[in-house]
Amino acid sequence: MYQVQLGVAVIRLDRPPVNSLGHGLRQAIHVAVVAAQADASVCALVLVGSDKAFSAGADVGEFGQPAQTAFPLLGDVLSRIDVCSKPVVAAISGVALGGGLELALACHARVALASAKLGLPEVKLGLIPGSGGTQRLPRLIGLVAAHKLIQSGDVQTARQLESTGLLDQVVDSGLLEAAIAMALELSTGKSALPRARDRQLNVQATQAFIDEQCTKLTPRQRQLPANKAVLDALGACAGDFDKGMKTERGLFLELLGSTSAKALRYQFFAEREAVKLPITHQAEVRAVTSVGIVGAGTMGAGIAISVLDAGLKVILLEQDDAALQRGYARVSEHYAGRVTAGKLKAVVAAANESRLHATTDWTQLNQVDMVIEAVFEELSVKQEVFKKIDAHARAGAVLATNTSYLDVDAIASVTRRPQDLLGLHFFSPANVMKLLEVVRGTQTAPDVLATGMAFGRALKKTPVQTGNAFGFIGNRIYNAYRKQCEFMLEEGALPEEVDTALEDFGFAMGPFKVADLSGLDIAWRMRRAQAATRDPRERYVGILDTLCEHGRLGRKTGAGYYTYTDGTPAKSVDAVVRQALEEASVRRGIQRKALTPETIQRRALLAMVNEAALLLTEGVATRISDVDVVLVQGYGFARWQGGPIFWARQQERSTLQAGMQELAEKSGWGFVLADLETILTI
Ligand code: NAI
Repeated sequence: MYQVQLGVAVIRLDRPPVNSLGHGLRQAIHVAVVAAQADASVCALVLVGSDKAFSAGADVGEFGQPAQTAFPLLGDVLSRIDVCSKPVVAAISGVALGGGLELALACHARVALASAKLGLPEVKLGLIPGSGGTQRLPRLIGLVAAHKLIQSGDVQTARQLESTGLLDQVVDSGLLEAAIAMALELSTGKSALPRARDRQLNVQATQAFIDEQCTKLTPRQRQLPANKAVLDALGACAGDFDKGMKTERGLFLELLGSTSAKALRYQFFAEREAVKLPITHQAEVRAVTSVGIVGAGTMGAGIAISVLDAGLKVILLEQDDAALQRGYARVSEHYAGRVTAGKLKAVVAAANESRLHATTDWTQLNQVDMVIEAVFEELSVKQEVFKKIDAHARAGAVLATNTSYLDVDAIASVTRRPQDLLGLHFFSPANVMKLLEVVRGTQTAPDVLATGMAFGRALKKTPVQTGNAFGFIGNRIYNAYRKQCEFMLEEGALPEEVDTALEDFGFAMGPFKVADLSGLDIAWRMRRAQAATRDPRERYVGILDTLCEHGRLGRKTGAGYYTYTDGTPAKSVDAVVRQALEEASVRRGIQRKALTPETIQRRALLAMVNEAALLLTEGVATRISDVDVVLVQGYGFARWQGGPIFWARQQERSTLQAGMQELAEKSGWGFVLADLETILTI
């Protein structure tokens, strides 16, 4: 239960791996505190965790489960500490997050190792701290600092928090000794035990600050109810403590059952699952410490940065010196910019860059464990490049293509080792975006696939496994969605109406703004390439082609769907676009009719859902939740909406089925209606 050292009861939190505050640990702490209070040989208490964790907080899996109501809740444990007449000191090492930090806040004093990481990240799960975090933290560090920490959900080190008043002492070593010394000092009874709850904040100043912050909440922040709830809970921190605690608890419980919190919890687990290969696919991983990257354009340079940041060596290869110089400059300018912005230490940037070697000499590829190709999106170009890679890479090296759409098998077929080849589809900017689609070719060996997944994790990305199909998971679903949005333009919606409706739903950016940003010419080129084989019965919307013919290639040319002034899109589209829309409707024989935001959202989302279900039926996606991870991580689908399949599962089945019928009718010839049971039944 506890050990007595120098008259201090040392209560060790011992629930590996991270001392999650599940029912068992809560009960153990409660019992130990009660016993230590009654133990005459004890004059003070110290709560201490492991090197890894004081406590990482609530067990996320327990949220909403029946055990959540079983005594003692975390609040009961904290109340027990509150009424303890002997000083209780928290000795913090590793992480103290969420409920873990709330536990420390309820103690009479806190000592932490400088490296310890502390934070209240509940808002990232659509919640607010539910056990006094919003009431005790502002009493200790002030309202402004508490608001910043809670609203951001950021994690900071004890060293960073040293001067805030949160910690009574920060040490580099000897944590337990320091905590015991502090507990003994407090036990001398020279002054009353310091309790956060006894401190008072000014009621008027608190209210004024909260009112100001409420007006500052952006429409986007308001979409997540937790953001407003943080302010409501903090607003109750001045005045009676118990009343404030009640307010906080009420808000917490309300959020716990909210769709946004469910969606964020779902994403939390879905991401954890996605990065693992199903048990049947697991295999030994090939070691990768050096990577050759062929093509140093936008993607190649970004991939190089990502690989260097992970501590690996990179050989960057280009077709000529000029392109190589440009690619090299992209990488070094990135590091210089990070240093200037104070985001990266100069020594770290220098160390990363020192592991980069740029060359036009293909024979150097024999030194690396993995080669990633990122040249132009043209099958013949990629095949030529892979013939050369095949000629030079050492036996056993993993070969990867960063293609967005091309057939991985067709690329592998030109090598003598298709079993060593897979797709590694990075997203732009490759050094920032977390998503990585790991594409399994027909002949990809199990250990190569496992290596691709492990490599993604080593790069701190979210690797998701996908089969080899046009556009893999993400681009294929996104294409279906964009196509449906184009249909709606032809039927009567304006680009800004579609964009606004979908941004209001939670997308980071509407599809037409996204198209303008990426450049319409890429899609235009692809459309022209497919023109000869396109079936005339297919519903084809030519608006984008018309815009490109007018030289409107998107933001880079100052106009696309929108016109741009200094990079900012006009609120509504101009006469050229209106005319293109009207002409398109006339061509299709459609009387233009306004579409409601709800219709736009429903059709766009159902198009995603339908394609997702097809991908699952075809075995391209292996797990239902993988699809949602891809859309959230790579395509701006609001995390708090959970992803298209999560969304579909929140809808009435009959509404969903009726919507699907409508989708099929509107989409016309060639539309394949998926079997919804694939995604609705678990
Ligand atoms: P980019 O045009 O910026 O860069 C391509 C680079 O490849 C150029 O620097 C070019 O000099 C080099 N290159 C061409 N042929 C070569 C050869 N034979 N040997 C060596 N180097 C050669 O293109 P970007 O955008 O970087 O795209 C590269 C690949 O990544 C494409 O397959 C693309 O579909 C894919 N991709 C692009 C994304 C994007 O947002 N730009 C996102 C995900 C994938």
